[in-house]
Amino acid sequence: MDANNTYILGIESSCDDTSASVIHNGKILSNVVANQKIHEEYGGVVPELASRAHQQNIVPVVHQALAKANIDKKQLSAIAFTRGPGLMGSLLVGTSFAKSLAMGLNIPLIEVNHMQGHILAHFIDEKGFDKPEFPFIAMTISGGHTQIVIVKDYFDMEVIGETIDDAVGEAYDKSAKILGLPYPGGPLIDKYANEGNPKAFQFTKPKVDGLNFSFSGLKTAILYFIQKETAKNPNFIEENLKDICASIQFTIVTILMDKLKKAVKQTGIKQIAIGGGVSANSGIRTALKKAEKTMGWKTFIPKFEYTTDNAAMIAIVGYLKYQNQEFVDESVIAQARYHI
Ligand code: KG4
Ligand code: ZN
Repeated sequence: MDANNTYILGIESSCDDTSASVIHNGKILSNVVANQKIHEEYGGVVPELASRAHQQNIVPVVHQALAKANIDKKQLSAIAFTRGPGLMGSLLVGTSFAKSLAMGLNIPLIEVNHMQGHILAHFIDEKGFDKPEFPFIAMTISGGHTQIVIVKDYFDMEVIGETIDDAVGEAYDKSAKILGLPYPGGPLIDKYANEGNPKAFQFTKPKVDGLNFSFSGLKTAILYFIQKETAKNPNFIEENLKDICASIQFTIVTILMDKLKKAVKQTGIKQIAIGGGVSANSGIRTALKKAEKTMGWKTFIPKFEYTTDNAAMIAIVGYLKYQNQEFVDESVIAQARYHI
């Protein structure tokens, strides 16, 4: 085993993206992601269809990742895969594939927690992107998760807050659906929000103790508000779309920032790293940049392709675990619920 010359293949299949990536030491050589368009028609991820699409995509995606990295599978040092959390049917495809390939090549197998992947994506070597120092606070915000985590070391993490119902991305997507926007609507709300007045409409923020989040009440409040207004004026959405989106965005960003401020106060840690698809949101990015100036925080947002679900974040965890020789055997099983 040559620890200075390791090629790790990462495989991610926890939700609706099939992805494979090759990392050489800390540097990503390829990160191929096949999105599943099929779910757009249904306005959300359909688990059964996701597993089928993973089955179709996994072999070509892995081939492409190896080809782009310009290596042969025989050069691989180990295979890292997402064990959980996620949709069971989706996880099974990546897990079974990773196990078989590792056995076929007679190389070690490394299991990865998807949430740790989102956080450790900050340690991928990338020009222009600084790495946080321990300890730091990580906030993972996506369609499937919303967590605040103290990261004391690579594999020493403590969840100090999480959603008790919907994830923040779900709040975006469900609000967008109410407004008649296509799935996933988060990016569209963000786009319209930039042209609207964030103070046009008020939505009450959920009252949840401590550092936990709740977004299901907000979605209901938006639904009732829209129903009430469209009963008076059927063109209400069309006429006010930008202001509605700006007001929704303002509410969600305020909820996230309030909890982060609380977490900073509670822990005394001022380094904040975010991850997950919602990190692309312009509102949260602007708020974090502002907090650097007004509150002396140092904030970290990874390169876009490493924020949404991707295998590069699985490969970097694989690389870190490889240093400690943290391997698993073929009896390992996928876990839909898997805490960090
Ligand atoms: O991490 P991700 O690709 O997949 C998981 O859910 O794990 O995140 C997708 C989520 C969707 O809910 C999508 O609407 C949201 O991220 N999203 C955004 C933006 N870009 C993606 N939400 C708000 N503003 C954005 N710019
Ligand atoms: Zn994710």
